Amino acid sequence: MQPFSLVTFGITSNIVQKYLIPSLYDMEEKGLLPANMIIVGIARRQMSEKDLADYLHQTLHLENLHHKHEIKAEVFQKLCKKFCYLSGEIEDRDLYEKLKKTIGEGNIIYYLATYPELYKYVFDNLQKVGLNKQKSGWVRLMIEKPIGHDLLSAKELNELLLNYFTEDQIFRLDHYLGKETLQNILTFRFANGVFEPIINKDHIDHIQITALEDFGIGKRGGYYDQVGALKDVGQNHLLQMLAFATMDAPGEFSNEAVTRERIKILKNLQSLTDKVVFGQYEGYIKEENVAPDSATETFYALKTYIRNERFKDIPIYIRAGKKLKKTATEISIVFKKPANRLFKCFDCGEDEPNVLIYRIQPNEAIVFKILTKLPGHKVKLQPEYMQYCYRIDPHNHYIPDPYERLLVDTIRGDQTFFNDAAEIEAQWAFVDPLIEVRKKPVVYQAGSWGPKEADELIEKDGRKWLEPSMEFCRI
Ligand code: BG6
Repeated sequence: MQPFSLVTFGITSNIVQKYLIPSLYDMEEKGLLPANMIIVGIARRQMSEKDLADYLHQTLHLENLHHKHEIKAEVFQKLCKKFCYLSGEIEDRDLYEKLKKTIGEGNIIYYLATYPELYKYVFDNLQKVGLNKQKSGWVRLMIEKPIGHDLLSAKELNELLLNYFTEDQIFRLDHYLGKETLQNILTFRFANGVFEPIINKDHIDHIQITALEDFGIGKRGGYYDQVGALKDVGQNHLLQMLAFATMDAPGEFSNEAVTRERIKILKNLQSLTDKVVFGQYEGYIKEENVAPDSATETFYALKTYIRNERFKDIPIYIRAGKKLKKTATEISIVFKKPANRLFKCFDCGEDEPNVLIYRIQPNEAIVFKILTKLPGHKVKLQPEYMQYCYRIDPHNHYIPDPYERLLVDTIRGDQTFFNDAAEIEAQWAFVDPLIEVRKKPVVYQAGSWGPKEADELIEKDGRKWLEPSMEFCRI
């Protein structure tokens, strides 16, 4: 593997702690990091080499939903040796002179985990010291959401980026696109001939997309209170889930073709301003760094349609939130019931529809809920799951973390699972009108399924939210 420098602005940020450092550890363990590479951590505070090692050690031992395996001393040591730390002010050119001395030229990845307001200083300074140009190697930039806070600011940021980098250098990261379980939807749909012909309005009754978390905002109040659930996960992760589940087959498996199909879906989503509900969990306003009169939502539910022939008039219900009853993220494609009721038994379960579930997490799976005959003398039906379960062995860490996948893709220069400018803008164009009608959220009980208004949203249409089942693919 070619050597490269990974420069991380904001090494002490929450996102780096939660995702990037654990992924670098995994990559080191799997031999995916070249021996002669360098990882530069940048932040304001002063840190000695020992402080940095302690910080990395602590970070890897923090409780982490997605990274639960053992930290081996020899792997940690190898990783630590690749790290060096630079303290300084992002606005200050000296920092970039120091950086230039540290990494020289060659292949570089910049990973920005800083406030978007600071991006301009980073880009300006990189340009001043000539570190944004691809002279003796490639130079790539990874930036995270939020890419802007609405359509206008996203456009401005996309334009700003082009002043310093070319589009093929810009890797806009939505970690959901790096999830193995999301990427597998494309394989499931387009590598198998049997399912694609039934994923359309003739066979589908509706689609549900759910991302529930049973935990609150933790120590992220400062960030979260400014954005709320719809911008935090709704503008990005959930729309991408929808795009993966509904996009047409790309002409080929390439960045351009796959991205083009995702964008077509995103551009055709209808923002229904009277079909959105905002909720806030009880006690949210007492969380650290949250305004005592905060009107920020920690839950939203909405209904939408895709304006295309394939899904014409098929309702799509989306919900996401924090401090709910369960942690589960999934897409459910709910099929129409058979027209002829052959098994006219009372209360025998004939009314249960078939559901295709893409379970993103936990119990990662693709399952098809079907009706079968309960063994015995009577005709009684029971729902069962035809299931594909990921072989997850916690010791083997079978599913690569999204950040690991996306870092590997960045090293390879493959942008298939990154967002391009038009994609981000389409997402904002859908969300902006919904944000505009955002009212004070209704309070819901922690540990519930969210506010009753969200139930009413779907029940008005004679449907129900599906409770994420833990019955399949149990580890
Ligand atoms: C992040 C959001 O982008 O995604 C968090 O900021 C959310 O609020 C997280 O919890 C969900 O990601 P995952 O991978 O834990 O499902």
